[in-house]
Amino acid sequence: MKFVRQAWYVAGWSSEFTRIITRITIMNENIALYRTKTGKIVALQDRCPHKSLPLSMGRLIDDNIQCGYHGMTFNPEGYCVRIPGQGSIPRSAVVKNFPVQEKNDIVWIWMGPPEKADEKEIFHLEEFDNSGWKSHQGDALYFQSNYLNVAENLVDPAHVSFVHPTTLGNPESENVTVKTDISGEVLVAWRWIRDAPPVGFFKSFGNFTGNVDRWHYYYLYMPSIAVIDFGSANTSWNLKEEERHKGVRVFTVHFLTPVSETECIDRWMHLRNIQIDDEEVSRKMDEMFRLAFDEDKAILEAIQQEESRSSNQQTISLAIDKAPNVYRLRIKRMIENEVNSNT
Ligand SMILES: [Fe+2]
Repeated sequence: MKFVRQAWYVAGWSSEFTRIITRITIMNENIALYRTKTGKIVALQDRCPHKSLPLSMGRLIDDNIQCGYHGMTFNPEGYCVRIPGQGSIPRSAVVKNFPVQEKNDIVWIWMGPPEKADEKEIFHLEEFDNSGWKSHQGDALYFQSNYLNVAENLVDPAHVSFVHPTTLGNPESENVTVKTDISGEVLVAWRWIRDAPPVGFFKSFGNFTGNVDRWHYYYLYMPSIAVIDFGSANTSWNLKEEERHKGVRVFTVHFLTPVSETECIDRWMHLRNIQIDDEEVSRKMDEMFRLAFDEDKAILEAIQQEESRSSNQQTISLAIDKAPNVYRLRIKRMIENEVNSNT
């Protein structure tokens, strides 16, 4: 599997990085991250060019990183500044430096050629800066699954009735047609379930007594960020599409970072327009999301096992697969374009 390299991926939540060197793996590359004394994040290839020991096994000397084997020391740009016992430093004594940016308490890393990194392209939601919304970071969920299968799950409203029967779905949605919009840069799949009992999530957080109208909008940003806008409102309101802000509305955001061909990390968070000052609500929502996302994890890891065991089996395509199919095609094209632009 090849990966889209020219993109900003999430390296971690800001809180994950300190003066202790942290090792992460993205697209099979091991990367050492740490903060300088002034708090700036540094990301360097986690491999000493001398004997290949991971630099993350070394230590920080002020803002530099010292290899734990022979003491070769590299500055935050990746250039060697000291070789103990040797006066001259060869030009080749350098490790790759990755562009990083910290925004909205998230650390972003650019995996493409550094000269193409443009921080204006970092994902942003206007609700991050809206005082009527609460943003709350959840977990880093590790999947033994390739990231494409996880991403397509995040533009797929149809699985919810079957995979998440106690939290996000219920049988009332089984036969509701999924609509899609593939005309823009962001893929959208959605459906409304009108005049039905609330699902478990909204029983807990909406205080609904009667039937509700419920929506699920799945937005998939290339190459691997999903925003799921879901909510409910009393059926008697007969809410229109553009009036969703009047209901109880929650976004879950999933930042997928490919680790290898068969692993990825889903860092998820939520935003909500209700009870925004109540930390207990954040905690309770996390609990319910953990339950739901573990259900996805079980499904996707079982699929990966099956695909790894027997990769040449044919699968069939259904009407509900429109957005996932377009997603895979776009990823393929993005990778081809990158390969072509490098040759
Ligand atoms: Fe799911």
